[in-house]
Amino acid sequence: MADIAPILHVISPLRHVSPFDVNMALDAGYTTIVPYPDVRLDEMTDLTQDMMFSRPPSHAARTGLFIGGKDAGLALDMADKAASALFPPFQISIFVDPAGSFTTAAAMIAEVEKKLKTTRPDGLSGAKVQVYGATGVVGGIAAVIAAQAGAHVTLVSHREIEAVEAKAREFKTRFNVTLGTAAARDDAEKRALLPDAEVALACGKAGVQILTREHLASAGKLLVAADVNAVPPSGIAGVEALDDGKSIGGDAVGIGALAIGHLKYRVQHELLKRMRGTDTPLVIGFEDAFSLARSLSL
Ligand SMILES: NC(=O)c1ccc[n+]([C@@H]2O[C@H](COP(=O)([O-])OP(=O)(O)OC[C@H]3O[C@@H](n4cnc5c(N)ncnc54)[C@H](OP(=O)(O)O)[C@@H]3O)[C@@H](O)[C@H]2O)c1
Repeated sequence: MADIAPILHVISPLRHVSPFDVNMALDAGYTTIVPYPDVRLDEMTDLTQDMMFSRPPSHAARTGLFIGGKDAGLALDMADKAASALFPPFQISIFVDPAGSFTTAAAMIAEVEKKLKTTRPDGLSGAKVQVYGATGVVGGIAAVIAAQAGAHVTLVSHREIEAVEAKAREFKTRFNVTLGTAAARDDAEKRALLPDAEVALACGKAGVQILTREHLASAGKLLVAADVNAVPPSGIAGVEALDDGKSIGGDAVGIGALAIGHLKYRVQHELLKRMRGTDTPLVIGFEDAFSLARSLSL
C-alpha cells in the first residue's frame, strides 16, 4: 500500500469535533485527520460515498470514518447510514465512539467484571448493578454492556423516573436488553436503593459527587463501586481517581476514573491502530471495545 496513506475522517453532529479524539488519532499513527463538525444524519450517505469513490477499492479499508458526538443512538444511526452507503468493492472502515463513551463504558465494565470475580465467581452474570447518571452517554452504554454480560441492571436518574424509563424503552428497542429503572432524587431515595446493589457505577456529570459515605453505609451487599468522573470531587466518596481495587469498607472495592481512563486509552488507541493498518474493512462498535477491554484487563 505504498502510495495510499491512511486517512481518518472524523464526523460529529456537534459544533466541534472532539480534540480528545483528534489527539488519540494522531497518537495512533494517523497523520491525516480531517474534522467534519455539525454533520446531519441525512448528510451521511453523500459524505460516505465521497470518501470511498476517490481511492482504489483495494485500498478502501484504510480510509477510516470515526463518528463522535454525544448521543449514542444518533452516532449508531449515522454509522448505519454510512454502512448502507457502502457496497463492494468500495468498503471503508467505521469506528463509533461518541464522547469516548463506548471505549470508556467498555473499560469500566471490564474492570468491574475483573474485580467482581475475586469475590463473586459468576462475575457479572446475575449481579445487581445500579448505574447512576444513566441518562448520560457513558452511563447508558455501560448499562447496555453490563446487561449483555448477564447483569440485572437498574438505570438510576437524579431526576424524575420518566427520564430513565425513556432510556430503558430506547435500549429495549435498539439492543433488546431489559433494564430496570429508579429515581434517586435525594438522600432518602439513594439510601433506599443501595441495599440491593452489588455493583454501583457512577457515570454522572464531571465534578458531581453522586454517592457520599452516608449513602454507602446502606450498601450492605456492595462488592464493587466504580467511578468515571475524573474531576474532583470524585463521583463516589472514598473512591479516588487512581484507585484500582482499593477497599472502601466491608467487602467492597473501588475503581477510580483514572484507572478506568488508563484502560479506555489503551482500548481506543489499539482500535484506531487496527483501523489505520487494516486491509479488510472494519466496523468497530462498543461490542468490539468491550471484547478488547476484557482481554487487555486480564
Ligand atoms: N474516565 C474516563 O476515561 C472518561 C471518559 C469519558 C467521560 N468520562 C466522564 O464520564 C462521566 C459521564 O460522561 P457523560 O458525557 O455521560 O456526562 P454528562 O452528560 O455530563 O452527565 C451524565 C449524567 O449525569 C447526571 N447528572 C447531571 N447533573 C447531575 C447532578 N447535578 N447530580 C447528579 N447527577 C447529575 C445526568 O444523568 P441523570 O439525569 O440520569 O441522573 C446526566 O445525564 C463524566 O464525568 C465524564 O467526565 C470519563
